[in-house]
Formats: sequence, structure tokens, C-alpha cells
Amino acid sequence: MKKSSIIIALAALLVALGALAASLLFVPGSRMADVISSGEALVGGEFEATNQDGKRVSDKDFLGKYTLYYFGYTFCPDVCPAELQVISAALAQVPDAEDKFQVVFVSIDPERDTPQIMKDYVANFWPGTVGLTGSAEDIRKMAGKFRVYYGRAGGKEGEGKDDYLMDHSSIVYLMGPDGKFIRHFAFGTAADDMARELKNAVEG
Ligand code: NI
Repeated sequence: MKKSSIIIALAALLVALGALAASLLFVPGSRMADVISSGEALVGGEFEATNQDGKRVSDKDFLGKYTLYYFGYTFCPDVCPAELQVISAALAQVPDAEDKFQVVFVSIDPERDTPQIMKDYVANFWPGTVGLTGSAEDIRKMAGKFRVYYGRAGGKEGEGKDDYLMDHSSIVYLMGPDGKFIRHFAFGTAADDMARELKNAVEG
């Protein structure tokens, strides 16, 4: 093989790899990493749900403050309460956090998580945490917009009746006062790291 042929072959390979990378990045609804790479518009948006007082609310009700959205369920034995504690611990380190931030906990188990159950639950966490639940359809739509995966763990509908666990993604989403996606925090982010990033977001 001549030197020029090798260069042409390498160039062709690079073009092919570039095309492959581009196609991976811009497939809608693909993996979380791709969603983050390809832009804010793909996370969040319009939604409607029922808050802990039984009142219908929408995304518009959360404009004006930085909002941390977390999806889970009140019967969750460990992951959800731990993550809500991390959020509280992070916000406790942010100056004037109560004026600048709000926390929204969205149930991916609306069948069991009634507004009253949500109300009792969110009272354990950051002051003013809003609990959202609603119809199965409300939650399906909202989770879809936030790219949240959830499903009943280990079995079909009806199995175990009221005593079941849910599988769900555990990601905290930070949205700006304009409702637009700023960044996410992966499961396992330490409260100190989250606090630093929240301060950065506010200070620009
Ligand atoms: Ni959970």
C-alpha cells in the first residue's frame, strides 16, 4: 500500500467514525448522556399534575425560582429518602436557598401516593418541598419529558397487590427560574458537590 492510499483510507475511516458519533448524539430519546450532550430542550417542558394539597398545577407554577426535580415514591425504602436528604443537605449550604430554590418530588407510584401521603412525606425534607402526584397518565407524560424510567419491580400487575417496590431512575434535575434545564446530578453525587454546583448556577 502506498503512503497516499493509507492516508486516504485513514481519512475515510475518520469520516465514518464522525458520522457514527453524530448519529449517536442526535437520536431523540436515546441514552441520558446523549440527551445531556444534545441540549437542554430535551429535558423538562410542560406538564400537569396534582400537588400535596390536591390542587392541579403545571410547570408554570414553578417558574421564578431554581427548581430541583426528583422522581421517586414514598414507599421507597432507601434510595428516595437518601436522595431527598442529600438535596436538603446541599441546599442548607447555599446562602438564601429558601428564597432562590424550590424542591419538587414527583411520585412515579401515583396509585399509592395520594396527595395526603405526599403531604406527610415531603414534610420530612427541605422546607416547602412540593409533592406531585396525579393520574397514571399525568405521571407517564411528565416522566417522559424528564427522561425518567420507572416500573413496578419484579413482576406483573396484581402480583403482591399493595406490597411492591418500584424501579426508577434516581437523577436530580436542576431547572432555571425560566423553567429551562440547567444540569442534572447523577445518583451518588455528594451533598457538598451538589451545593457547590447550585451556588455556581445562581452566581452564573
Ligand atoms: Ni426510590
